[in-house]
Amino acid sequence: MIIGVPKEIKNNENRVGLTPGGAKELTKLGHTVKVQSHAGEGSGFSDAQYKDAGATILPDIESVYADVEMIIKVKEPIEKEYSLIKRDQLVFTYFHFASSETLTKAMVKSGAVCLAYETVELPDRSLPLLVPMSEVAGRMAVQEGARFLEKPLQGRGILLGGVPGVRPAKVLILGGGVVGTQAAKMAAGLGADVTIMDTNLNRLRYLADILPANVNTFMSSEYNIRSLIGSHDLIIGAVLIPGAKAPKLITRDMLKEMQPGTVLIDVAVDQGGCIETCEPTTHENPTYVIDGVVHYCVANMPGAVPYTSTLALTNATLPYAIQLANMGWQQACSLSNPLKLGLNVVKGDITYKSVADAFGLPYVPVEEHIQKVTA
Ligand SMILES: NC(=O)c1ccc[n+]([C@@H]2O[C@H](COP(=O)([O-])OP(=O)(O)OC[C@H]3O[C@@H](n4cnc5c(N)ncnc54)[C@H](O)[C@@H]3O)[C@@H](O)[C@H]2O)c1
Repeated sequence: MIIGVPKEIKNNENRVGLTPGGAKELTKLGHTVKVQSHAGEGSGFSDAQYKDAGATILPDIESVYADVEMIIKVKEPIEKEYSLIKRDQLVFTYFHFASSETLTKAMVKSGAVCLAYETVELPDRSLPLLVPMSEVAGRMAVQEGARFLEKPLQGRGILLGGVPGVRPAKVLILGGGVVGTQAAKMAAGLGADVTIMDTNLNRLRYLADILPANVNTFMSSEYNIRSLIGSHDLIIGAVLIPGAKAPKLITRDMLKEMQPGTVLIDVAVDQGGCIETCEPTTHENPTYVIDGVVHYCVANMPGAVPYTSTLALTNATLPYAIQLANMGWQQACSLSNPLKLGLNVVKGDITYKSVADAFGLPYVPVEEHIQKVTA
Protein backbone atom coordinates (compact mmCIF):
# COMPACT_ATOMS: atom_id res chain seq x y z
CA MET A 1 0.00 0.00 0.00
CA ILE A 2 1.10 3.59 -0.53
CA ILE A 3 0.96 5.51 2.75
CA GLY A 4 1.24 9.28 3.23
CA VAL A 5 2.34 11.15 6.35
CA PRO A 6 1.60 14.90 6.10
CA LYS A 7 2.93 17.61 8.41
CA GLU A 8 0.26 18.72 10.90
CA ILE A 9 -0.88 22.24 10.16
CA LYS A 10 -3.22 22.83 13.10
CA ASN A 11 -1.95 25.69 15.27
CA ASN A 12 0.82 24.58 17.65
CA GLU A 13 0.53 20.90 16.74
CA ASN A 14 4.03 19.43 16.77
CA ARG A 15 3.18 15.74 16.78
CA VAL A 16 3.37 13.63 13.61
CA GLY A 17 1.34 10.55 12.65
CA LEU A 18 4.25 8.15 12.23
CA THR A 19 7.77 7.89 13.68
CA PRO A 20 10.80 6.84 11.59
CA GLY A 21 10.63 3.51 13.48
CA GLY A 22 7.03 3.08 12.35
CA ALA A 23 7.97 3.96 8.78
CA LYS A 24 10.69 1.30 8.89
CA GLU A 25 8.22 -1.41 9.98
CA LEU A 26 5.89 -0.53 7.09
CA THR A 27 8.60 -0.33 4.42
CA LYS A 28 10.06 -3.65 5.64
CA LEU A 29 6.68 -5.20 4.82
CA GLY A 30 6.89 -3.86 1.27
CA HIS A 31 4.71 -0.77 1.71
CA THR A 32 5.63 2.64 0.31
CA VAL A 33 5.76 5.47 2.86
CA LYS A 34 5.75 9.09 1.66
CA VAL A 35 6.52 11.71 4.31
CA GLN A 36 6.15 15.45 3.87
CA SER A 37 9.45 17.28 4.35
CA HIS A 38 9.85 18.56 7.96
CA ALA A 39 6.74 16.60 9.09
CA GLY A 40 8.63 15.10 12.03
CA GLU A 41 10.68 18.13 12.96
CA GLY A 42 8.44 19.31 15.82
CA SER A 43 8.75 15.87 17.42
CA GLY A 44 12.52 15.72 16.95
CA PHE A 45 12.61 13.49 13.82
CA SER A 46 14.55 14.65 10.76
CA ASP A 47 13.87 13.94 7.08
CA ALA A 48 17.14 11.98 7.06
CA GLN A 49 15.80 9.61 9.73
CA TYR A 50 12.69 8.91 7.64
CA LYS A 51 14.86 8.39 4.54
CA ASP A 52 17.02 5.92 6.44
CA ALA A 53 13.81 4.09 7.37
CA GLY A 54 13.04 3.65 3.67
CA ALA A 55 10.52 6.49 3.30
CA THR A 56 10.35 8.96 0.42
CA ILE A 57 10.39 12.65 1.35
CA LEU A 58 7.96 14.87 -0.55
CA PRO A 59 8.23 18.66 -0.70
CA ASP A 60 4.68 19.72 0.17
CA ILE A 61 1.36 18.60 1.59
CA GLU A 62 -0.35 18.47 -1.84
CA SER A 63 2.09 15.87 -3.14
CA VAL A 64 1.57 13.72 -0.02
CA TYR A 65 -2.20 13.56 -0.51
CA ALA A 66 -1.97 13.29 -4.31
CA ASP A 67 -1.80 9.53 -4.86
CA VAL A 68 -1.57 7.72 -1.53
CA GLU A 69 -4.10 5.11 -0.42
CA MET A 70 -3.83 5.75 3.33
CA ILE A 71 -3.07 8.97 5.19
CA ILE A 72 -1.76 8.57 8.76
CA LYS A 73 -1.89 11.74 10.84
CA VAL A 74 -2.67 13.01 14.33
CA LYS A 75 -5.31 15.74 14.43
CA GLU A 76 -8.62 16.00 12.66
CA PRO A 77 -8.30 17.68 9.24
CA ILE A 78 -8.81 21.43 9.36
CA GLU A 79 -10.52 23.41 6.60
CA LYS A 80 -7.35 23.88 4.54
CA GLU A 81 -6.97 20.10 4.39
CA TYR A 82 -10.54 19.22 3.36
CA SER A 83 -9.95 19.68 -0.36
CA LEU A 84 -6.72 17.63 -0.28
CA ILE A 85 -8.52 14.45 0.78
CA LYS A 86 -9.42 12.23 -2.15
CA ARG A 87 -12.46 10.03 -2.80
CA ASP A 88 -11.84 6.46 -1.47
CA GLN A 89 -8.68 7.55 0.37
CA LEU A 90 -8.35 6.01 3.85
CA VAL A 91 -7.67 8.63 6.54
CA PHE A 92 -6.48 7.20 9.87
CA THR A 93 -6.35 9.91 12.57
CA TYR A 94 -8.22 11.48 15.53
CA PHE A 95 -11.44 13.02 14.18
CA HIS A 96 -13.74 13.70 17.19
CA PHE A 97 -16.59 14.06 14.68
CA ALA A 98 -19.33 14.55 17.27
CA SER A 99 -17.83 17.91 18.18
CA SER A 100 -17.87 19.31 14.61
CA GLU A 101 -20.73 19.23 12.14
CA THR A 102 -18.58 21.14 9.61
CA LEU A 103 -15.88 18.47 9.68
CA THR A 104 -18.45 15.66 9.50
CA LYS A 105 -20.16 17.17 6.46
CA ALA A 106 -16.81 17.87 4.77
CA MET A 107 -15.67 14.27 5.21
CA VAL A 108 -19.04 12.95 3.96
CA LYS A 109 -18.61 15.15 0.90
CA SER A 110 -15.02 14.00 0.33
CA GLY A 111 -16.06 10.37 -0.23
CA ALA A 112 -13.07 9.27 1.86
CA VAL A 113 -12.94 6.43 4.40
CA CYS A 114 -12.45 7.99 7.85
CA LEU A 115 -11.17 5.64 10.53
CA ALA A 116 -11.09 7.53 13.83
CA TYR A 117 -8.50 6.66 16.47
CA GLU A 118 -10.87 7.62 19.28
CA THR A 119 -13.54 5.03 18.49
CA VAL A 120 -11.28 2.01 17.89
CA GLU A 121 -12.55 -0.11 20.79
CA LEU A 122 -11.45 -3.41 22.36
CA PRO A 123 -13.94 -6.03 23.65
CA ASP A 124 -13.44 -4.80 27.25
CA ARG A 125 -14.70 -1.40 25.99
CA SER A 126 -11.28 0.24 26.42
CA LEU A 127 -10.07 2.68 23.76
CA PRO A 128 -6.49 1.65 22.92
CA LEU A 129 -5.71 4.69 20.77
CA LEU A 130 -6.85 7.17 23.44
CA VAL A 131 -4.94 5.50 26.30
CA PRO A 132 -1.46 6.77 25.32
CA MET A 133 -2.60 10.42 25.38
CA SER A 134 -4.30 9.88 28.75
CA GLU A 135 -1.05 8.39 30.06
CA VAL A 136 0.85 11.47 28.89
CA ALA A 137 -1.76 13.90 30.30
CA GLY A 138 -1.91 12.11 33.67
CA ARG A 139 1.84 12.25 34.13
CA MET A 140 2.01 15.83 32.88
CA ALA A 141 -0.74 16.95 35.28
CA VAL A 142 1.59 16.40 38.21
CA GLN A 143 4.58 18.02 36.50
CA GLU A 144 2.48 21.10 35.66
CA GLY A 145 0.81 21.09 39.07
CA ALA A 146 4.19 21.09 40.82
CA ARG A 147 5.29 24.02 38.68
CA PHE A 148 2.20 26.14 39.27
CA LEU A 149 2.41 25.53 43.03
CA GLU A 150 5.51 27.74 42.92
CA LYS A 151 4.95 31.18 44.43
CA PRO A 152 6.10 33.23 41.38
CA LEU A 153 3.46 31.38 39.36
CA GLN A 154 0.76 32.31 41.94
CA GLY A 155 0.76 28.95 43.71
CA ARG A 156 0.97 28.23 47.44
CA GLY A 157 4.75 28.03 47.36
CA ILE A 158 4.92 24.42 48.48
CA LEU A 159 7.35 21.82 47.15
CA LEU A 160 5.50 18.68 46.07
CA GLY A 161 7.77 16.25 47.89
CA GLY A 162 8.60 18.52 50.87
CA VAL A 163 12.04 18.05 52.48
CA PRO A 164 13.11 16.16 55.61
CA GLY A 165 11.37 17.90 58.51
CA VAL A 166 8.75 19.63 56.32
CA ARG A 167 5.53 17.98 55.15
CA PRO A 168 5.06 17.26 51.44
CA ALA A 169 2.20 18.73 49.39
CA LYS A 170 -1.21 17.05 49.52
CA VAL A 171 -2.53 15.99 46.11
CA LEU A 172 -6.18 15.06 45.50
CA ILE A 173 -7.05 13.18 42.29
CA LEU A 174 -10.68 12.92 41.16
CA GLY A 175 -11.07 9.83 38.96
CA GLY A 176 -8.94 6.69 39.10
CA GLY A 177 -8.89 5.73 35.41
CA VAL A 178 -5.88 6.03 33.10
CA VAL A 179 -5.20 9.75 33.74
CA GLY A 180 -5.79 9.47 37.50
CA THR A 181 -3.64 6.38 37.96
CA GLN A 182 -0.69 7.86 36.06
CA ALA A 183 -1.03 11.11 38.03
CA ALA A 184 -1.12 9.21 41.32
CA LYS A 185 2.04 7.27 40.41
CA MET A 186 3.93 10.44 39.51
CA ALA A 187 2.81 12.41 42.56
CA ALA A 188 3.58 9.49 44.85
CA GLY A 189 6.98 9.02 43.24
CA LEU A 190 7.83 12.65 44.00
CA GLY A 191 6.94 12.07 47.65
CA ALA A 192 3.57 13.86 47.81
CA ASP A 193 0.76 12.77 50.12
CA VAL A 194 -1.83 11.54 47.59
CA THR A 195 -5.54 10.72 47.74
CA ILE A 196 -7.31 9.25 44.71
CA MET A 197 -11.12 9.12 44.47
CA ASP A 198 -13.44 7.14 42.21
CA THR A 199 -17.08 6.05 42.29
CA ASN A 200 -16.14 2.52 41.23
CA LEU A 201 -15.33 0.51 44.36
CA ASN A 202 -13.68 -2.32 42.43
CA ARG A 203 -11.40 0.21 40.77
CA LEU A 204 -10.48 1.61 44.22
CA ARG A 205 -9.70 -1.92 45.44
CA TYR A 206 -7.39 -2.43 42.46
CA LEU A 207 -5.69 0.94 42.95
CA ALA A 208 -5.20 0.25 46.68
CA ASP A 209 -3.40 -2.96 45.68
CA ILE A 210 -1.05 -1.52 43.08
CA LEU A 211 -0.26 2.03 44.22
CA PRO A 212 2.41 2.84 46.81
CA ALA A 213 1.71 3.45 50.50
CA ASN A 214 1.64 7.24 50.16
CA VAL A 215 -1.56 6.97 48.06
CA ASN A 216 -4.90 6.63 49.87
CA THR A 217 -8.06 5.61 48.03
CA PHE A 218 -11.37 7.29 48.89
CA MET A 219 -14.93 6.89 47.59
CA SER A 220 -15.97 9.84 45.44
CA SER A 221 -19.02 11.76 46.66
CA GLU A 222 -19.82 15.43 47.12
CA TYR A 223 -19.55 15.03 50.89
CA ASN A 224 -16.12 13.41 50.73
CA ILE A 225 -14.80 15.88 48.14
CA ARG A 226 -15.91 18.83 50.32
CA SER A 227 -14.19 17.28 53.33
CA LEU A 228 -10.81 17.24 51.53
CA ILE A 229 -10.54 20.30 49.30
CA GLY A 230 -9.58 22.74 52.09
CA SER A 231 -6.54 20.70 53.08
CA HIS A 232 -5.19 19.82 49.60
CA ASP A 233 -2.64 21.86 47.66
CA LEU A 234 -3.05 20.35 44.20
CA ILE A 235 -6.36 18.96 42.88
CA ILE A 236 -6.44 17.05 39.57
CA GLY A 237 -9.74 16.45 37.75
CA ALA A 238 -9.54 13.18 35.77
CA VAL A 239 -13.09 11.82 35.58
CA LEU A 240 -14.81 10.46 32.51
CA ILE A 241 -18.34 9.25 31.91
CA PRO A 242 -18.08 7.79 28.39
CA GLY A 243 -20.13 9.68 25.82
CA ALA A 244 -21.29 12.30 28.36
CA LYS A 245 -20.15 15.66 29.66
CA ALA A 246 -17.97 15.46 32.74
CA PRO A 247 -19.90 15.86 36.04
CA LYS A 248 -19.11 19.10 37.92
CA LEU A 249 -17.44 17.74 41.03
CA ILE A 250 -15.87 21.04 42.15
CA THR A 251 -18.45 23.82 42.16
CA ARG A 252 -17.80 27.54 42.30
CA ASP A 253 -18.78 27.86 45.97
CA MET A 254 -16.13 25.27 46.90
CA LEU A 255 -13.30 27.61 45.83
CA LYS A 256 -13.87 29.67 48.99
CA GLU A 257 -13.10 26.60 51.10
CA MET A 258 -9.67 26.18 49.45
CA GLN A 259 -6.39 27.73 50.60
CA PRO A 260 -5.18 30.67 48.45
CA GLY A 261 -2.68 29.37 45.90
CA THR A 262 -4.29 25.94 45.63
CA VAL A 263 -3.79 24.63 42.08
CA LEU A 264 -6.61 22.97 40.11
CA ILE A 265 -5.66 20.99 36.99
CA ASP A 266 -8.79 19.98 35.05
CA VAL A 267 -7.59 17.31 32.64
CA ALA A 268 -11.23 16.50 31.83
CA VAL A 269 -11.58 19.94 30.20
CA ASP A 270 -11.95 18.27 26.78
CA GLN A 271 -15.23 16.74 28.04
CA GLY A 272 -16.47 20.05 29.43
CA GLY A 273 -14.41 19.88 32.64
CA CYS A 274 -15.24 18.51 36.11
CA ILE A 275 -14.56 21.87 37.75
CA GLU A 276 -17.41 24.36 37.31
CA THR A 277 -15.04 27.34 36.91
CA CYS A 278 -12.94 25.58 34.25
CA GLU A 279 -12.57 27.27 30.85
CA PRO A 280 -10.26 25.81 28.19
CA THR A 281 -6.78 27.39 28.14
CA THR A 282 -3.72 27.00 25.90
CA HIS A 283 -0.05 26.17 26.43
CA GLU A 284 0.77 29.84 25.70
CA ASN A 285 -1.51 31.01 28.49
CA PRO A 286 -2.30 27.94 30.59
CA THR A 287 -3.64 29.39 33.85
CA TYR A 288 -5.96 31.98 35.37
CA VAL A 289 -6.91 32.71 38.97
CA ILE A 290 -10.39 32.83 40.53
CA ASP A 291 -10.82 33.49 44.28
CA GLY A 292 -7.06 33.01 44.72
CA VAL A 293 -7.23 29.50 43.23
CA VAL A 294 -5.02 28.76 40.20
CA HIS A 295 -6.86 27.02 37.33
CA TYR A 296 -4.95 25.08 34.63
CA CYS A 297 -7.29 23.77 31.91
CA VAL A 298 -5.21 23.04 28.79
CA ALA A 299 -7.27 20.92 26.41
CA ASN A 300 -4.35 19.37 24.49
CA MET A 301 -1.79 18.70 27.20
CA PRO A 302 0.15 16.03 25.20
CA GLY A 303 0.90 18.66 22.52
CA ALA A 304 3.52 20.19 24.84
CA VAL A 305 5.63 17.02 24.81
CA PRO A 306 5.48 16.01 21.12
CA TYR A 307 8.52 13.73 21.25
CA THR A 308 6.96 11.51 23.94
CA SER A 309 3.43 11.82 22.57
CA THR A 310 4.38 10.95 18.98
CA LEU A 311 6.31 7.86 20.07
CA ALA A 312 3.50 6.79 22.42
CA LEU A 313 0.90 7.31 19.69
CA THR A 314 2.83 5.33 17.05
CA ASN A 315 3.37 2.51 19.59
CA ALA A 316 -0.41 2.21 19.82
CA THR A 317 -1.45 2.93 16.21
CA LEU A 318 1.22 0.98 14.32
CA PRO A 319 -0.22 -2.54 14.80
CA TYR A 320 -3.54 -1.26 13.38
CA ALA A 321 -1.82 0.66 10.56
CA ILE A 322 0.01 -2.54 9.59
CA GLN A 323 -3.26 -4.51 9.45
CA LEU A 324 -4.82 -1.79 7.28
CA ALA A 325 -1.81 -1.63 4.98
CA ASN A 326 -1.45 -5.41 4.64
CA MET A 327 -5.10 -6.19 3.99
CA GLY A 328 -6.75 -2.96 2.88
CA TRP A 329 -9.41 -1.37 5.10
CA GLN A 330 -12.32 -3.56 4.00
CA GLN A 331 -10.70 -6.87 4.80
CA ALA A 332 -8.92 -5.56 7.92
CA CYS A 333 -12.19 -4.15 9.31
CA SER A 334 -14.16 -7.26 8.49
CA LEU A 335 -11.63 -9.36 10.42
CA SER A 336 -11.07 -6.95 13.33
CA ASN A 337 -14.04 -5.63 15.29
CA PRO A 338 -11.92 -2.98 17.12
CA LEU A 339 -10.91 -1.52 13.74
CA LYS A 340 -14.44 -1.78 12.36
CA LEU A 341 -15.66 0.32 15.29
CA GLY A 342 -13.22 3.01 14.17
CA LEU A 343 -15.06 3.55 10.88
CA ASN A 344 -17.03 6.79 11.29
CA VAL A 345 -17.54 8.01 7.72
CA VAL A 346 -17.28 5.72 4.69
CA LYS A 347 -17.56 6.89 1.10
CA GLY A 348 -20.21 9.53 1.75
CA ASP A 349 -22.10 7.71 4.54
CA ILE A 350 -21.94 8.27 8.30
CA THR A 351 -21.37 4.79 9.72
CA TYR A 352 -21.05 5.67 13.43
CA LYS A 353 -24.50 6.06 14.97
CA SER A 354 -23.75 8.64 17.65
CA VAL A 355 -22.08 10.91 15.06
CA ALA A 356 -25.14 10.75 12.79
CA ASP A 357 -27.46 11.30 15.80
CA ALA A 358 -25.40 14.28 16.99
CA PHE A 359 -26.34 16.22 13.84
CA GLY A 360 -29.62 14.56 12.85
CA LEU A 361 -27.95 13.16 9.71
CA PRO A 362 -28.67 9.75 8.12
CA TYR A 363 -26.88 6.71 9.52
CA VAL A 364 -25.79 3.76 7.39
CA PRO A 365 -24.61 0.55 9.14
CA VAL A 366 -20.94 0.01 8.39
CA GLU A 367 -21.60 -3.59 7.33
CA GLU A 368 -23.08 -2.23 4.11
CA HIS A 369 -19.60 -1.10 3.13
CA ILE A 370 -17.58 -4.06 4.30
CA GLN A 371 -17.28 -7.03 2.06
CA LYS A 372 -17.78 -10.15 4.19
CA VAL A 373 -14.59 -12.15 4.43
CA THR A 374 -14.71 -15.74 5.57
CA ALA A 375 -11.46 -16.38 7.40
N1 LIG B 1 -6.63 17.68 28.61
C1 LIG B 1 -6.01 16.76 27.89
O1 LIG B 1 -5.05 17.05 27.17
C2 LIG B 1 -6.44 15.32 27.97
C3 LIG B 1 -5.61 14.30 27.48
C4 LIG B 1 -6.03 12.98 27.64
C5 LIG B 1 -7.26 12.69 28.26
N2 LIG B 1 -8.05 13.74 28.70
C6 LIG B 1 -9.34 13.52 29.38
O2 LIG B 1 -9.14 13.08 30.71
C7 LIG B 1 -10.35 12.49 31.17
C8 LIG B 1 -10.04 11.16 31.86
O3 LIG B 1 -9.58 10.23 30.89
P1 LIG B 1 -9.19 8.73 31.28
O4 LIG B 1 -8.53 8.15 30.08
O5 LIG B 1 -8.49 8.68 32.59
O6 LIG B 1 -10.64 8.08 31.45
P2 LIG B 1 -10.96 6.67 32.16
O7 LIG B 1 -12.26 6.22 31.61
O8 LIG B 1 -9.78 5.77 32.10
O9 LIG B 1 -11.16 7.07 33.71
C9 LIG B 1 -12.21 7.87 34.18
C10 LIG B 1 -12.50 7.49 35.62
O10 LIG B 1 -13.42 8.45 36.16
C11 LIG B 1 -14.20 7.75 37.10
N3 LIG B 1 -15.36 8.54 37.48
C12 LIG B 1 -16.54 8.73 36.81
N4 LIG B 1 -17.35 9.54 37.54
C13 LIG B 1 -16.67 9.87 38.66
C14 LIG B 1 -16.97 10.67 39.80
N5 LIG B 1 -18.15 11.28 39.94
N6 LIG B 1 -16.01 10.78 40.78
C15 LIG B 1 -14.83 10.17 40.66
N7 LIG B 1 -14.50 9.37 39.62
C16 LIG B 1 -15.41 9.24 38.64
C17 LIG B 1 -14.53 6.44 36.38
O11 LIG B 1 -14.99 5.44 37.28
C18 LIG B 1 -13.16 6.11 35.76
O12 LIG B 1 -12.39 5.28 36.62
C19 LIG B 1 -11.23 12.35 29.91
O13 LIG B 1 -12.15 13.41 29.87
C20 LIG B 1 -10.24 12.47 28.78
O14 LIG B 1 -10.86 12.92 27.58
C21 LIG B 1 -7.66 15.03 28.54
